[in-house]
Parts: sequence; C-alpha cells; structure tokens
Amino acid sequence: MTSGPNQTVVSVAQAPQFNKSSIFFSDVFVMDDPLRTGPDKNSKLVGKAQGIYVAAGLNKLELLVAMNFVFTEGEYNGSAISIVGHNEVLTTVREMPIVGGSGLFRFARGYTQLRTYLFNQKIGSAVVEYNVFVNHY
Ligand SMILES: *[C@@H]1O[C@H](CO)[C@@H](O)[C@H](O)[C@H]1NC(C)=O
Ligand SMILES: *[C@@H]1O[C@H](CO)[C@@H](O)[C@H](O)[C@H]1NC(C)=O
Ligand SMILES: *[C@@H]1O[C@H](CO)[C@@H](O)[C@H](O)[C@H]1NC(C)=O
Repeated sequence: MTSGPNQTVVSVAQAPQFNKSSIFFSDVFVMDDPLRTGPDKNSKLVGKAQGIYVAAGLNKLELLVAMNFVFTEGEYNGSAISIVGHNEVLTTVREMPIVGGSGLFRFARGYTQLRTYLFNQKIGSAVVEYNVFVNHY
C-alpha cells in the first residue's frame, strides 16, 4: 500500500529530471509489506517482505528488487530468504532468484514466481502471490 494510514511502501528518491516519468524511472522505494499465507488480509501473517526496489527501466516499468522474506511464525520464525532480481511488473508471471538465506535457510538457492493477484491503482494497493522454490540444508 503506497498511501493512507496503513502505508507500507514509500518512495524515497527520484532524479528530478524524471519526476514526470509515468514508469517511475529512477524512483527508489522502500517497503515493509506483510507476508501472508493467502491473499485475504485476514489470512495468517507469517512474516514481512522488506526491502528496496528501484524503477530501473528507461522505457517500461521494470524493477530491480532486493528484499528479504523475514519469517516470524512457526518453524521458520527468525529465518529469512533473500531475493534479488528483475521484476517486469506488468508481465503475468515474473521470476526472481533466491540468492541466499539465514537461519533454516542458510545456503538457500532457488527461485520465486510471482503473479499480481490484485491491483488497485487508486489507493496504490497491490496483492502479489509468490510461489517459492528453494533448496536449503
Ligand atoms: C488500517 O489498519 C487497521 C488495523 O488493521 C484497520 O482497522 C483499518 O481499516 C486500516 N485502514 C485502511 C484505510 O486500510
Ligand atoms: C519536477 O522537476 C521540474 C524541473 O526539474 C521542477 O520544476 C518541478 O517542480 C518538479 N516537479 C515536482 C512535482 O517535483
Ligand atoms: C518468534 O521468535 C521471536 C524471537 O525468538 C519470539 O519472540 C516470538 O515469540 C516468536 N514468535 C512465534 C510466533 O513463535
């Protein structure tokens, strides 16, 4: 959510000469989104998706994402996986690499496929489904 009392994403920087860019080129965002087991806001909260993303596409909406899934529940509580990748937001299925992890996810390697489940442009709210495929010890 990019606005309102429950905002979880904030734009922190943008090159002034691109301040009218409809694809947000050069904009840097910081997020701390809830990570839930399902799309409903009442589904179980299992952690946080924290990180930064940069609108890195000059000609279309493409993000460079660097973020952690920080788990706060169950057997993964205290463990995290780190994701760094390219996210072309308007594509139906995107893929980003899992580059590592901590706790139970030490030495993690894998990938995640994401799909936008819901997007509300008016309030800047998005729900994104992540399917995570991860190998770890
Ligand atoms: C913000 O979050 C609170 C607590 O979860 C909720 O009661 C409220 O309806 C939310 N407000 C909006 C605008 O989403
Ligand atoms: C965008 O940048 C131009 C020129 O750098 C400046 O005049 C204008 O006030 C800026 N607009 C916003 C909304 O920051
Ligand atoms: C997760 O771990 C933290 C720190 O060890 C602990 O305070 C918290 O109660 C744990 N949460 C759950 C749901 O087990």
